[in-house]
Amino acid sequence: MPPRILVLNGPNLNLLGTREPEIYGHGTLGELVDGLRAAYIGRAEISDHQTNIEGELVSALHNAESDGIDGVAFNAGAYTHTSIALRDAIAGISVPVVEIHISNVHRREAFRHTSMLAEVCLGQILGFGRVSYSLGVEAIVRHLNQ
Ligand code: DQA
Repeated sequence: MPPRILVLNGPNLNLLGTREPEIYGHGTLGELVDGLRAAYIGRAEISDHQTNIEGELVSALHNAESDGIDGVAFNAGAYTHTSIALRDAIAGISVPVVEIHISNVHRREAFRHTSMLAEVCLGQILGFGRVSYSLGVEAIVRHLNQ
């Protein structure tokens, strides 16, 4: 059975398509997830969730295992740089999580250079635009198949 991957998105990522398109591109989050689903038919079953609420992200991580999720591709948006709660949630579950960013956060403001999550994630993928998500899903699928 193909692994089940949750593509989890945090605050403001619902605005993809209209939000700062010079940084985040013109396609919507729905289009991005549809593209992933199509690309991974037979290799991974993609589910997705987006919320602007930090506690809902914590709960989505807690529920991942009981929901049958094998790995999480997680773009926590700005909470990446601030959220000890999300870090603790990732540290507290056994499902592997890959940190994703569309932009190269290291080329941007200094406050984006710190990730609260990196240390407890399997790895980070950033700076490849929307391809960051495909690379993140690919990384988890390969990790799970190892
Ligand atoms: C982001 C980078 C974050 O710094 C920012 O707050 C976002 C998006 C990215 O995908 O590049 O919301 O996670």
